Amino acid sequence: MNRPLSSSDPGALLAAVLAANETTPDPRLRQVMAAGIRHLHAFALEVDLTPAELQVGLDFLVEVGKATGAERNEGILLADILGLATLVQLRSARHSVEAGGTEPALVGPFWRAHQPLRSNGATISSDTTPGPRLEVRGRVVDLDGTPVPGARVETWQASPKGMYENQDPEQEDMNLRARFETDADGRFSFVSVRPAGYPVPTDGPCGRLLAAQGRKVMRPAHLHFIVLADGFKCLATQFFDVDDPHAYEDVVFGAVGSLLRKFEPDGHGGYRLDVDLKLEPGEARLPHCPLP
Ligand SMILES: [Fe+2]
Repeated sequence: MNRPLSSSDPGALLAAVLAANETTPDPRLRQVMAAGIRHLHAFALEVDLTPAELQVGLDFLVEVGKATGAERNEGILLADILGLATLVQLRSARHSVEAGGTEPALVGPFWRAHQPLRSNGATISSDTTPGPRLEVRGRVVDLDGTPVPGARVETWQASPKGMYENQDPEQEDMNLRARFETDADGRFSFVSVRPAGYPVPTDGPCGRLLAAQGRKVMRPAHLHFIVLADGFKCLATQFFDVDDPHAYEDVVFGAVGSLLRKFEPDGHGGYRLDVDLKLEPGEARLPHCPLP
């Protein structure tokens, strides 16, 4: 039997809503909804939320939905700029990271299916993409440091102007993207150009929120990687340029300390980046690919 509801007893209202949730058959949904309800009620009480402010929040969520389509997902961006996506990803990988595995980072919206397979050592930037040379040498290993041969390594990055090829009419299709296979020693390598950082899209409701918060909107320069090998959990991560001015203020909070890297000068005006990708045993399953 619920307590009678009254304006002087918000706890009775919370108890009634939680009781209504108890009929949810799926136990995980019941648990998630109960926690969500408790935190939402506590949030509204803490800030003494007004009806007008509630409406502003609901209108914002409607705008997030309207701004989302085949080419753009404002809901993902919202989870990113609130740090929620990074929190969930790091939390889900904590056992792997405690065991010495490479820390993950968001897949993001720019990975494309069917990135071209290249030989190790290949150049992945076209002649029409000017910028400092960057040679990347990587190794895929297990938690004990044993090389993983035959692993599928996907990489993609923005140009020295901070744009992915699918955003930039001046770049060739699939520029600065490739897929490699590790050799018998777990190694892969390629030649590219040094990427630049870029802003998240700011022309939608999330951009207005960032402006209202007075926040910076940049991501530090980075290269994305996805590694897939039989017998190991798929690893999606990014390595960030520690010398980027935004290295410690990534707008989506993905640039965790263990993923910051020095792009070492090669003495000829270019740079070198060495990366180790340590995989945890498990089921190999690729994440959802956001672009064709
Ligand atoms: Fe990116």
